[in-house]
Amino acid sequence: MGWHRKDLIGIEELSVEEINTVFKTAEAFKGLLTRNVAKTPVLRGKTVVNLFFEPSTRTRVAFEMAAKRLSADVISLDMKISSTSKGETLRDTVENIRALSADIIIMRHSAPGAARYIADVLDIPVLNAGDGAHEHPTQALLDCFTLREKFGSLEGRKIAILGDIQYSRVARSNIWAMTKLGAEVTLVGPSTLVPRHFEKMGVSVSHDLRSALADKDAVMLLRIQHERQNASAFPSLNEYTSMFGLNKERLSWLKKDAVIMHPGPINRGVEIDSELADSEQSVILQQVTNGLAVRMGALYLCTGGNADAVSA
Ligand code: CP
Repeated sequence: MGWHRKDLIGIEELSVEEINTVFKTAEAFKGLLTRNVAKTPVLRGKTVVNLFFEPSTRTRVAFEMAAKRLSADVISLDMKISSTSKGETLRDTVENIRALSADIIIMRHSAPGAARYIADVLDIPVLNAGDGAHEHPTQALLDCFTLREKFGSLEGRKIAILGDIQYSRVARSNIWAMTKLGAEVTLVGPSTLVPRHFEKMGVSVSHDLRSALADKDAVMLLRIQHERQNASAFPSLNEYTSMFGLNKERLSWLKKDAVIMHPGPINRGVEIDSELADSEQSVILQQVTNGLAVRMGALYLCTGGNADAVSA
């Protein structure tokens, strides 16, 4: 069947077969989403609880919509007004939610390892919606799903990830996913945000934008993650943009039909010029759309669904 996991915590632990099983399931659910009644009863009677301890638009809404398309009941808690603010531990919070008959937990947390911690405590599926700078597995799955739609396969494709790699869970999950799927990945940005030790993950590191972009099939921009930085990694945002922001001239350094990606949220005019974000080469909103089908697939598989049994 290709999937035997209760939880989705990170891409690092997934095999290529498991990644492809998510893609196969997501493809089927994407077909379903084009129907007049874009809903299937596979999670009817189940309750999905969304716990977001950090801000989110795309991931939170996509998980909520995905669960609803699968006919689950969904509760999204605002963790700022939950009892964690009164000193309750994360473990107590999730055990109480489980005691209220939650069937699946989706969690975003600032602490790396938080999703693994609660997955080991609970007997129900836990899906990691981002844990600190560690992993954001469904983001990488939807990014690679989008590239697969564009190129057929990632095998041999050359991809640059440009920006704040050091503090990015999206970068780490995409490095695992893209390299497992056979892509050649180059990380590029200032040395303070793109340290050489990333080379141990099987990628190239460059601090020279022009040479790093040459011959790339795709470039993924990442925003500067101020919320995880204690000190500025560069003198000013203007200086970052002048050296590493993607603009029209620099776009010509890539292959002519190269794809522009961004996981969002975008800081227009900082890491990317507004006109490029909205250009025909941009697949940024396709990434968001694919996030719905990919998260339907992840929810379905983690609750024991059989990829071979889903049809569009
Ligand atoms: N890409 C991403 O995780 O976006 P959100 O923070 O809006 O969920």
